[in-house]
Amino acid sequence: MLSVLIWVAVMAQVLVAEPTVVVVGGGLAGLSASLEIITEGGRVILVEGENNTGGNSAKASSGINGAGTDVQEKLGIRDSPDLLEKDTLSAGDNENDKKLVKILAENSADAVQFLRNVGVDLTDVNLCGGHSVPRTHWIPSPKEGRPIPAGFEIMKRLRTRLNEIQEKNPESFRLMTQTKMTDIIRKEGKVIGVEVVSVEGEKSQITGDAVILATGGFSADRSADGLLTEYGKDILDFPSTNGPFARGEGVKIARSLGAKLIGMDRIQIHPTAFVDPKDPSAGTKFLAAEALRGKGALLINSDGKRFGNELGRRDYTTRRILNHAKPIEESFQGGSSGRHAAVMLMSEATIDAFGRPAFNFYAIVKKFFVKYNNSDELAKALGVDGSVVKSTLDDYKDIFDKKKEDPFGKKVFPVSAISPTEPIYAAIVVPAIHYTMGGLQIDENARVVDEQGNPIIGLYAAGEVTGGVHGSNRLGGNSLLECVVFGRIAGHSGFSAAREASRSEL
Ligand SMILES: Cc1cc2nc3c(=O)[nH]c(=O)nc-3n(C[C@H](O)[C@H](O)[C@H](O)COP(=O)(O)OP(=O)(O)OC[C@H]3O[C@@H](n4cnc5c(N)ncnc54)[C@H](O)[C@@H]3O)c2cc1C
Ligand SMILES: *[C@@H]1O[C@H](CO)[C@@H](O)[C@H](O)[C@H]1NC(C)=O
Ligand SMILES: *[C@@H]1O[C@H](CO)[C@@H](O)[C@H](O)[C@H]1NC(C)=O
Repeated sequence: MLSVLIWVAVMAQVLVAEPTVVVVGGGLAGLSASLEIITEGGRVILVEGENNTGGNSAKASSGINGAGTDVQEKLGIRDSPDLLEKDTLSAGDNENDKKLVKILAENSADAVQFLRNVGVDLTDVNLCGGHSVPRTHWIPSPKEGRPIPAGFEIMKRLRTRLNEIQEKNPESFRLMTQTKMTDIIRKEGKVIGVEVVSVEGEKSQITGDAVILATGGFSADRSADGLLTEYGKDILDFPSTNGPFARGEGVKIARSLGAKLIGMDRIQIHPTAFVDPKDPSAGTKFLAAEALRGKGALLINSDGKRFGNELGRRDYTTRRILNHAKPIEESFQGGSSGRHAAVMLMSEATIDAFGRPAFNFYAIVKKFFVKYNNSDELAKALGVDGSVVKSTLDDYKDIFDKKKEDPFGKKVFPVSAISPTEPIYAAIVVPAIHYTMGGLQIDENARVVDEQGNPIIGLYAAGEVTGGVHGSNRLGGNSLLECVVFGRIAGHSGFSAAREASRSEL
């Protein structure tokens, strides 16, 4: 009798296909979830609205945080999950969901390893604003040749891995691009799939055993009934660093199902997006990677003076620019089109530290930077007295050499100071809408919860579509980290729950 029962159970497992999880959004959260599910033996249908996977994840340029990694140890950097947790809470003014932050920090070294395992060479670290130690892992800059931007490479390697798995086992992974989710389908209280529309306007339903939302944030949702109008009226006219697909559709669709939203008015303005001299008023701007300041770039205002700690929190640096840096006149490098703006300064040494190929992309391809032979020339272009810029740089040198305290509280001084007699590269930078801290509330298993705090059965979420992890202000490098950590958790818990449910139905 017992052996018959065991036989029936074994056969059932063999005959019943593993559950299918529908993942919506092909950014880092969506691909991390997909890889986790497939690795655990499940099947994935990945729905992506754009022509290809990538999302804002492919634009990331500063890297991913990990605390206590092998890479840090090799470089002699002492770090721990506790310290990352502390920095994250401090940056977020303790508005963060503490349980989620703990999970984020404790899984951070593993997350970096997860990406290294698919072939991403994350063997250099950056110091980003608001961090106690260098822990933002990125790809070492090649001395020459093409730069390898971290986000783009991460997304490429993950897709390659998924494609390889699909080649061996075509059932395991199906990608539907140019397919937009328009609704979530529920049956008897359980989420069983999504409604989609193709580019041709054809509607259909995609069903499975669980749904993971990985649709990203809403930094580009500017329409009259969009989430920025609803939660960020004051900043609606700021430019954005995000792709146009960041419209918060996952947030809006889940909300209509009763999902709880958290921190929606916490919208991060990144202090430094490049003003393109060819199009100074453009609404979409190129990010001036935080790694530039992490490798020693300085910020001055159009009076030729420093006005803040270049490595302060993003919200701090943004406020300093808005309050202590006027708009820049057209006569200097095309000006800032009426927006409060800073001038970012680099030297040959800081460029070398940042990576020349990546810098050349900004300077030669995009022409964001202009070279001056010395500080006098820069001052002349700015229309200020030469002695002002010279003493700004001399002062900073004294602070760098620890002869003076920084009046703005800078404690870590990367690479080197900039000398008034050496060539100086200058670019205009302005604050831009960059990241939305708010979104769907999730629990420790990445389950989306409703207004009453109960999980919505079958619905999971990860990445920028969720809220809570970052509190009031996100630390650089914590978003890619969140995508990997909670993407994998969503994949694991969504798949396990679906598998249990399908077995108990037998
Ligand atoms: C320029 C830039 C640089 C950055 N640099 C860093 C960095 O160095 N480190 C860091 O940690 N963070 C960085 N960030 C933030 C980070 O990149 C993002 O927050 C993160 O990548 C979000 O990942 P995600 O998977 O949640 O969403 P995304 O990567 O944006 O992916 C979401 C995907 O969902 C798709 N989608 C949306 N709606 C639908 C729908 N209805 N149906 C189907 N598909 C849909 C989108 O097309 C998109 O492909 C940067 C952001 C930008 C814009
Ligand atoms: C996406 O592909 C379509 C063709 O199917 C093309 O017309 C469109 O320009 C592409 N969009 C982007 C952003 O590349
Ligand atoms: C810098 O010096 C070079 C040669 O010494 C000169 O041609 C160039 O015009 C100078 N740059 C500026 C901005 O004046």
